[in-house]
Amino acid sequence: MSDHRTAQVPALTVEGVSKVYTSRGSGPVTAVDDVSFTLEPGASVGLVGASGSGKSTIAKLVTASERPTSGSITFGDVQVDRLRGRALRRFHGNVQLVFQDPYGALNPLHTVEYIVSRPCQNYLGMNARQARDRVHELLDTVGLTPTEQYAAKLPHQLSGGQRQRVVIARALACDPQLIIADEPVSMLDVSLRAGVLRLLEKLRRDRGLSLLYITHDLLSARVVTDRILVLNHGRVVEQGETKHVLQHPQDDYTVALLDAVATPSAAG
Ligand SMILES: Nc1ncnc2c1ncn2[C@@H]1O[C@H](COP(=O)(O)OP(=O)(O)OP(=O)(O)O)[C@@H](O)[C@H]1O
Ligand SMILES: [Mg+2]
Repeated sequence: MSDHRTAQVPALTVEGVSKVYTSRGSGPVTAVDDVSFTLEPGASVGLVGASGSGKSTIAKLVTASERPTSGSITFGDVQVDRLRGRALRRFHGNVQLVFQDPYGALNPLHTVEYIVSRPCQNYLGMNARQARDRVHELLDTVGLTPTEQYAAKLPHQLSGGQRQRVVIARALACDPQLIIADEPVSMLDVSLRAGVLRLLEKLRRDRGLSLLYITHDLLSARVVTDRILVLNHGRVVEQGETKHVLQHPQDDYTVALLDAVATPSAAG
């Protein structure tokens, strides 16, 4: 919160948002059902719920890659669900998504330097030399040092945790105001998860950006979020300060999610 940028980062407001998918052959699916929440500038909110509870759909709605069936999403004074053309492109630089799968997210034919430098050139208009300098700064930020060594590597020469750091460096390249991390550590070896979560938390603090953290693991939410929303079948069944919800869960579904992570055999 010490960063001067905090004041400029807009709040994300999701108000009464629903998403109904209609596909041929099957009936309509209500993936998100009347969800409302606010992500304050520089804050971190977790969306927690079992598989199919609507978490990724909310991520798609917030990044404008899907349109809500009803309700509104605003980022500062930008009405996200109405964005088109150049304004949409600018928005995509400001709001970056980090996916679950660091293996599929990186083009296997490109070096780390190329992967991270592209958004510097495309979104920030840097020339090749400026972009190269920035790549090294970003690799340093995400803990991939010595940066010269990592910049020259291809994705298959990196571990899952290192790849996810490259994905995060690429997300940071656009200087985003909001990062949406959709299960960013669930495909990583358990030993690497804490490091990536601490990195996300540090970036939020140092850069003053906002974080929407998506997980089915309530305990990981404790590391990186101030508040959480618990989703079940697209609806918010509980929300509040993360610590409070974990200590005093009110809803049966939250209790069941907590039991699931507390049982060693259920831990992925
Ligand atoms: N494009 C689509 N067309 C039809 N149904 C969809 C589509 N995308 C998602 N759904 C359905 O919407 C519901 C919510 O899906 P979503 O991907 O948001 O869940 P999730 O909470 O991210 O699950 P997971 O933890 O498995 O990633 C599911 O029932 C899913 O089958
Ligand atoms: Mg998902």
